Amino acid sequence: SSIPVICVDGPTASGKGTLAAVLAEKLGYHFLDSGSLYRITGLAATRAGIPLDIANEAAIVALLNTLPIHFEGSHIWLGNEDVSELIRTEEAGMNASKVSAFPAVRSALIDLQRNFRQLPGLVADGRDMGTVIFPEAALKVYLTASAACRAERRLKQLISKGIPATLDSLRADLEARDARDSSRTVAPLKPAQDALLLDNSELTVDTSVQTVLDWWQSKQ
Ligand code: C5P
Repeated sequence: SSIPVICVDGPTASGKGTLAAVLAEKLGYHFLDSGSLYRITGLAATRAGIPLDIANEAAIVALLNTLPIHFEGSHIWLGNEDVSELIRTEEAGMNASKVSAFPAVRSALIDLQRNFRQLPGLVADGRDMGTVIFPEAALKVYLTASAACRAERRLKQLISKGIPATLDSLRADLEARDARDSSRTVAPLKPAQDALLLDNSELTVDTSVQTVLDWWQSKQ
């Protein structure tokens, strides 16, 4: 496909979501928040009372295949329920990380993700956008920040939403999630060979966005 794709991969709370969404808006491209698909899968399985255990992989995929998932701007719907907020909790993130390690869950989501590649272009945010889903993407960014920075940002986000949290437990959670995401056998979190690395620990969002836009310009 000649439809342009920019991949933004990286660990939890590195600012991928923000960066990717701003890029998509500036370029007028579509936006794929691939993590939301794993979050919805975890939510639906938990609601159905299915323990998030590899032994239940087939049951979780069967359930996933029946889910009426719809994207509408930045909102995500499960049938007629707007789950956009529900899936953003730390617990939902941890559950997403569990189901995302199941190979059949990942395969079941491949086509859905590739279908987001539509004109005039796509910015895709995740863990394996550049390594598995869009391996031929023209620009792959691997966004990182120190664990301390990431925990601090997540704390600010949660507090601004009135959700109580502590720095220590957030840092422990995100390190546990990173460890699981990096060590799984299928599509582990790692930079694609041709990814450009960006550590935004010391950068503002604007500077990160401008850096990636400059990279994108230089590819045209
Ligand atoms: O990016 P986000 O925090 O929403 O992702 C939630 C979880 O979903 C991640 O911790 C990761 O385990 C999983 N995920 C994944 N592959 C992606 C996107 C997310 O495995 N492309």
